[in-house]
Amino acid sequence: MNTPEQVDPHDAAAFDAWYDVFSVADDDGRPYAVGWTREELRVGLTEPDPYRDRELWALRDDSGAIAGTMVLDIPLTDNTFRLGAGIAVRADARRRGYGRTLGRVLDERAAELDRSVVATQLEVPLAPPGIAGVDPQGVEGPTAGQAFATALGFSVANFEVHRILELPLADAVLDELAAEAAERHQGYELRSWRNRCPDDLVDAFAALLSTFLDEAPTGDLELEAEHWDAARIRQVEQQNVTQGRSSWTTVAIAPDGTLAGHTELVVGRHDPGKVLQWGTLVSPAHRGHRLGLGLKARNHRELQRTHDEPLVAHTWNGEENTAMNAVNAKLGFRPVERHEEWQKFVGARTLAGH
Ligand SMILES: CC(C)(COP(=O)(O)OP(=O)(O)OC[C@H]1O[C@@H](n2cnc3c(N)ncnc32)[C@H](O)[C@@H]1OP(=O)(O)O)[C@@H](O)C(=O)NCCC(=O)NCCS
Repeated sequence: MNTPEQVDPHDAAAFDAWYDVFSVADDDGRPYAVGWTREELRVGLTEPDPYRDRELWALRDDSGAIAGTMVLDIPLTDNTFRLGAGIAVRADARRRGYGRTLGRVLDERAAELDRSVVATQLEVPLAPPGIAGVDPQGVEGPTAGQAFATALGFSVANFEVHRILELPLADAVLDELAAEAAERHQGYELRSWRNRCPDDLVDAFAALLSTFLDEAPTGDLELEAEHWDAARIRQVEQQNVTQGRSSWTTVAIAPDGTLAGHTELVVGRHDPGKVLQWGTLVSPAHRGHRLGLGLKARNHRELQRTHDEPLVAHTWNGEENTAMNAVNAKLGFRPVERHEEWQKFVGARTLAGH
């Protein structure tokens, strides 16, 4: 077995060779795979980012070709006890220990970086794709990824369902849903923007985003709330532009002027045909006013002003998040994958203990 080596993302040829193996191995067997495109990841690795570091690792076979790949995600300003990891091995090189060898590097890096929780994500296609309703127990398993994660000492801590929806939606349908929702949130103002949060909302938007991880269902995951401020929002907006992404955000402003909720859709120039549903949150004090539906109906309408071509929207939600799932069902989303979040403890420092 060769020795794993770190890959320099600034070396274009080295990065491309790594990405060629990683993207194919990671998407293997997943008809609805969504992941980093080459250019999005290149920018994510090479542009300065004060909030997170990333590392790439490669493991070569005897011919010198890359057989195993690993990407590490290293939060720098919050959740600094966590280390995120993705491992993918070329299909023709599996069950020969490449994955396990990279797993050892992962443990070593966790110790060197003083991280005590290592997290990874697994995507399990639901079969047959597009069934109505989800029976998590109905997934045939374990998959290679699940068996591998178990062998490395991880256990599953949370899962979400990945759903898709073919766009565009008929304007009349969106208008009807928006009107139905609006009956329940009279007095709230919906405001939308593209790419850049207006200056007069940015501090309130940062405060709302800072509550996101506390409010979204995250199962048994060791996670702390992220700290957002205007500078972090501007940094992400700038990075999105560099990555070729456009975003559409709608927020709800309560009668007393506070920001009650938001939703965000993202289209990537390097990922044609897809729309990604990023965060949606309605603050607890403002729930029960059909703001989730109102925000989403409006935001899809805004997106369709410039994107009325056929696109597939992708969203991820916890099954216990019944309000959000009811909204998504109304829009017509259907389940295609189970998204599992696994973690293992590798040191004494945890959210509770650090
Ligand atoms: C999961 C994956 C990385 C495993 O890579 P690999 O190089 O084949 O793994 P290893 O050979 O090091 O296997 C280590 C252990 O994991 C378990 N394992 C791995 N694949 C397995 C499979 N298909 N069935 C059952 N057990 C499996 C076994 O316990 C194995 O030890 P053993 O061979 O001594 O029995 C690879 O299948 C892959 O790239 N899948 C797609 C991406 C993915 O799911 N990544 C996991 C996210 S971290």
